Amino acid sequence: MNTPSMDVLEAIRTRRSIPQFKPDAIPRTVIEELLEAAVWTPNHRLTEPWQFFVLEGESKRRFAEIRRDARRAALPNPDAPEVQAALQKVYDDTVNTPVIVVFTSAGHADPEIQEENYWSTFGAAYAVMLGAWSRGIGTYFRTGKAVVDSPRLRALLGLPDDRRVIGALYLGHPAVVPQKRRTPAAEKTVWLS
Ligand SMILES: Cc1cc2nc3c(=O)[nH]c(=O)nc-3n(C[C@H](O)[C@H](O)[C@H](O)COP(=O)(O)O)c2cc1C
Repeated sequence: MNTPSMDVLEAIRTRRSIPQFKPDAIPRTVIEELLEAAVWTPNHRLTEPWQFFVLEGESKRRFAEIRRDARRAALPNPDAPEVQAALQKVYDDTVNTPVIVVFTSAGHADPEIQEENYWSTFGAAYAVMLGAWSRGIGTYFRTGKAVVDSPRLRALLGLPDDRRVIGALYLGHPAVVPQKRRTPAAEKTVWLS
């Protein structure tokens, strides 16, 4: 990897969700490095609630079918000729994403611990987003319920009942970097003395 690393604050500020990737593959060693960093995400009681599923090849194609079919199921007229191209695009865009990592979290009988586990697992996903960006790799995190709660996705991952899919992270070299806006923190901050 010869992309120079970037300052953490710069990565936080400049990272954007990347809707379109170049076809270039991402080496497995890069994904491993990002996930090895992500396991250092803070987690209360050291539950280390995450398990990561890296989808490539056939598993990515099956994930693409699940995503396309979820989109299809939400349409009022799924068999209409004019929506077929859009559904095919959902499939193609998914399959053409170089790597997809599904973040799953342990649940817990205690709702407080369960909530902490879910937060930590999202934290791990954000760590990967920032780490990837610092290496010139773009990401897009998706949590649409029709996909993350899909029994077909759970079956694909072989997920036991006590684990939840937190989201799917799409990774690849950015083909575009969209502009976004944010409200300045000063407008979202209350200083109490
Ligand atoms: C927890 C979480 C869930 C998200 N889920 C989705 C999603 O299901 N579909 C989607 O298009 N974008 C999703 N996004 C991406 C947001 O739309 C995106 O972060 C937002 O537009 C801000 O853009 P930026 O990431 O480029 O700053 C999600 C982001 C987060 C943090």
